[in-house]
Amino acid sequence: MTVDVDQPADRSVLTGKRILFGVTGSIAAFKAAGWVRELTAESVGVTVVMTGAAERFVSSLTFGALSGNPVYRDMFDEAPDRLMAHINLSREADCILIAPATAQTIARLAHGMADDLLATVVLAARIPVVLCPAMNSNMLSHPATRKNLRQLQDMGYHVIPADRGILACGEEGAGRLPQWESVRETLLRLFSPQDLAGKKIVVTAGPTREPLDPARFLSNRSSGKMGYALARTAARRGAEVVLVSGPVALPEPVGIRTIQVNTADEMRAQVVSLARNADIVIKAAAVADFKPEKYRRQKIKKSSAGTVIELEQNTDILAELGKTRQPGTLLVGFAAESRNHEQEGFRKLRQKNVDLVVVNDILGAATGFDVDTNQVLLVDGNGSRRLPLLSKVETANRIWDHVLTLNDSGALSGGV
Ligand code: CTP
Repeated sequence: MTVDVDQPADRSVLTGKRILFGVTGSIAAFKAAGWVRELTAESVGVTVVMTGAAERFVSSLTFGALSGNPVYRDMFDEAPDRLMAHINLSREADCILIAPATAQTIARLAHGMADDLLATVVLAARIPVVLCPAMNSNMLSHPATRKNLRQLQDMGYHVIPADRGILACGEEGAGRLPQWESVRETLLRLFSPQDLAGKKIVVTAGPTREPLDPARFLSNRSSGKMGYALARTAARRGAEVVLVSGPVALPEPVGIRTIQVNTADEMRAQVVSLARNADIVIKAAAVADFKPEKYRRQKIKKSSAGTVIELEQNTDILAELGKTRQPGTLLVGFAAESRNHEQEGFRKLRQKNVDLVVVNDILGAATGFDVDTNQVLLVDGNGSRRLPLLSKVETANRIWDHVLTLNDSGALSGGV
């Protein structure tokens, strides 16, 4: 039986959220202007509060224009719509993001001071606060700043570690404003349901490469995008994720332990060992089914045209996990198909002894290799269910939703 699911708007959990963006006095304030732009492009409502020192670096006009909202600076502004701003601003927001956060602002917040608008807003707020420290590396490593940051973390503030590199003062060390990517990831985690919290999840992604000679290998067209989306979304939903990745052109996902492998044998060694402690293993990797029987130490010359390359089969890692599975481990496989999708999904579900098979149509223009969208069929012991055409990120979220329903309905062999 195939059930179609309504297509929801494909949007990130940030869309429609309201962020109170505190900017303090650091040379990195100009980078914060770019972040406001990133947020508004994702339809996040941004209201900026600047300290006096921040205005020495970037004009409030810049932040006003980029956010599309008036910028708040003065605690004693008497304009009617600004009275009680220190209380009202956080009531109207879902989260406070302070970037860059200077040593001075960090000290202020750690000591609960209320001597400027931003510090007062934070003190009066009952919403999550995210801090992005940026300063000279000696200031950052000073015991006073370290103690203040620890204290803020103990109070439940989210502190994103500063990056290392050459600082504006010319010194090298920790103190640079973190990359936008890690800040966005923190915000996504903050606003995602934590329904995978406590789960240990192994995700495999990408192709494998089976070497033939020093110059050549056998591989396939997998980009790794689906597997990386699964790893990212699981981490956002609170899981502890290990990503085992074949060679892909994607950056390692922020905050996720990523193990790079080349061959199917290397992937097998990692996955079999990691699976022993995992609650869920999801095999999105396109593992090469065959490898050259013999690796040639010297490059095969074109003069040897007519050479026959003998192939041998790689171990089916998923089937091996299915045979040796422990109760309580949930196994999810993928099926890359060009025809008989549903039938092949059920065959792989049975033959590999897994709980769920995600069937991919590799021929579709919007579902095949190296695209950002997918339309999959979920096949499990209860039947099959087709998801609509969605981004790979949204498809990944729907796969996790489905895994959680399997868990709730007790359909799994041992339960997650
Ligand atoms: N898989 C695996 N090890 C292999 C081959 C495949 O673990 N040596 C896993 C894939 O990661 C995927 C699932 O098995 O989760 C199905 O892979 P797919 O390539 O669709 O199918 P095959 O098992 O190779 O079968 P067929 O060639 O008949 O389609």
